[in-house]
Amino acid sequence: MTTERLEDIAVAMVADGKGILAADESSGTIKKRFDSIQVESTADTRRDYREMLFRADDAMKNYISGVILYDETLRQKAVDGTPLAELIKAAGSIPGIKVDAGAKDLPNFPGESITEGLDGLRERLQEYYGLGARFAKWRGVIAISDGLPTWGAVKQNAQALARYAALCQEAGIVPIVEPEVLMDGKPGDHSIDRCYDVTEWVLKTVFTELYDARVSLEGMILKPNMVIDGKNARKASVEEVAEKTVRCLKATVPASVPGIAFLSGGQSDEEATAHLSAMNSAYDMPWKLTFSYGRALQAAALKAWGGKTENVAAGQRAFAHRARMNSMAAAGTWKT
Ligand code: 13P
Repeated sequence: MTTERLEDIAVAMVADGKGILAADESSGTIKKRFDSIQVESTADTRRDYREMLFRADDAMKNYISGVILYDETLRQKAVDGTPLAELIKAAGSIPGIKVDAGAKDLPNFPGESITEGLDGLRERLQEYYGLGARFAKWRGVIAISDGLPTWGAVKQNAQALARYAALCQEAGIVPIVEPEVLMDGKPGDHSIDRCYDVTEWVLKTVFTELYDARVSLEGMILKPNMVIDGKNARKASVEEVAEKTVRCLKATVPASVPGIAFLSGGQSDEEATAHLSAMNSAYDMPWKLTFSYGRALQAAALKAWGGKTENVAAGQRAFAHRARMNSMAAAGTWKT
């Protein structure tokens, strides 16, 4: 039995001045992050790092509406025995869970991927609900290069996102639908206009599939990329990114979707903040526009922490600072 309405959870996830912390790095990805600060990745160090973030009261209470967790983290306990999900709830934030099993090579489509994880998902969602998760995330990955993406890859990823979303809603869990058009793929030298065209195509396809799968748009959150140059191309101005992103979203995302929470995708911390603020300050939009950042919320905190207990307060301050800057960006009031 579900008690909360999907619409209410979705609205809470994009509450004024708040956004989502993506802390759902898989064991492989968090190892790469820890390697960058020369910290060994073990169940305990991963717990310590994430406990530091979730106990950052100022950040969590004021700026973070929800936290996306990885399976391991949803089952972990803080050093004092409190489940980490309970720490998040105690701060007034909502625990969420990444439920996809990652992007794998798509047969017959060289250079393209399909996200796996639909088998057994209904049962896993029931378990995650019992563990306290009220929203979930599934990331489809679309790469741009010569001749890519193909229609086959766009369609198959959109179909998987739609079936995931329908299963989530059946389980009383709000789906974050994340079709990511990569900025940092290979060669990553595509223009912002090519990103616009591909993002528009992908989002139109995703919403067609969501409609066909009878997903309630009022009970979901979209997590898209911004419309932006490839990582190795010229850098468009903040105003151009904001204008093209908002135009693309208005052309594709129905007004019944309560909120859009961007991924940062390899932008620097400040770029991700500046772009979000520029959109919210200059445009009227039918949905809330906020952040669901991983790297852009955590990079400074990870560095300040460096794996040392004596640096926990510094790590929390660094996290709180970025969370506050992005909260201002969600209100359109951030300035350099
Ligand atoms: P980034 O903000 O680091 O892109 O991560 C967000 C995320 O959840 C990607 O799936």
